[in-house]
Amino acid sequence: MPPFDPPPGYDWSPSDDRTEKHSQDTHDAQVTMIIAIDGPAASGKGTIAKQVAGIYGLHHLDTGLIYRAVAKAVLDAGHSPDNVREAIDAAIALNPRKFEEAALKAQVITEAASVVAAIPEVRQALMNYQREFATRPPGAVLDGRDIGTVIAPGADVKLFVVATPEVRAARRTRELLARGEPADEQEVLADLLRRDERDSRRTAAPLKPAPDAHLLDTTHLGIDAAFRAAVDIIEAVRTGRKRG
Ligand code: C5P
Repeated sequence: MPPFDPPPGYDWSPSDDRTEKHSQDTHDAQVTMIIAIDGPAASGKGTIAKQVAGIYGLHHLDTGLIYRAVAKAVLDAGHSPDNVREAIDAAIALNPRKFEEAALKAQVITEAASVVAAIPEVRQALMNYQREFATRPPGAVLDGRDIGTVIAPGADVKLFVVATPEVRAARRTRELLARGEPADEQEVLADLLRRDERDSRRTAAPLKPAPDAHLLDTTHLGIDAAFRAAVDIIEAVRTGRKRG
C-alpha cells in the first residue's frame, strides 16, 4: 500500500493486475486514466504530455516544475541547493498551485532543481500532491522522471521518452535562444549530461524506465511525429486492454 490514503476507486497495484477491473469500470464516472511519461531533459516528453492531455481531455502536470519551485525557493532565500534542511523545509512549505512557469524554466534554476531532487525527504514531501493530482477525475498525464516507477506505478500507460544527447542539446539550445537566454550548444550538452548522470545515479527515485514502460525514441522525430507515435502506443495499450 502507498504511504497515504488513495482517493476512492483508485488501485495502486501494478497495471497488469488491474486490466480486468479497469475494463469493468469504464462506465463509472469516477474512473481515472493515468498516463505516465518519463524521460531525460529535452527528450520531448513535456510537449508530448501536454498534447496527449489535450486530446484525451485529461489534466496535465509537468512535475519538473515542482522540483524547480523548491530550488527557486531555496536560492531566493540565499541558500545553496545542497542545503538539505532548507530544501526539505521549502518542499514542505511549497504551494504547488502557484507556479510561475517562465521564471522556473530559467537555466539557473535547472541545475539547482536536480540537486534538491536528489534529497529523499524532498521527494517524499512532494509525493502526495502528485498522487492526488493524478487521481483527480477524469485522470491526468504526468511527465517527469519517476512517474511510472514511484508516483503512479499503476498508471494505465507508461511511456519512456528518449533521444540522443546531441539532439536533446540542439533542441534545448533553440528553446533557450527563443526565450532570449544566452546558450552555447556545447555547454548545454555538458549541462544535460551532468544532469542525466545526477538524475540517473541518485538512490531516491532515479531516472529509469518502469519495467512495463513503452520506449519512444524521438531522435529522428519532429513534434508532430513524436506525438502521433505516443498516441499509437497509448491506443495500442488501451485496445489491448479492451480485448483482454
Ligand atoms: O523536467 P525538468 O527538466 O524540468 O526537471 C528538472 C529537474 O527536476 C530534473 O533534472 C530532475 O532532477 C528533477 N525531477 C525529478 N523528478 C521528476 C521531475 C523532475 O527528479 N518527476
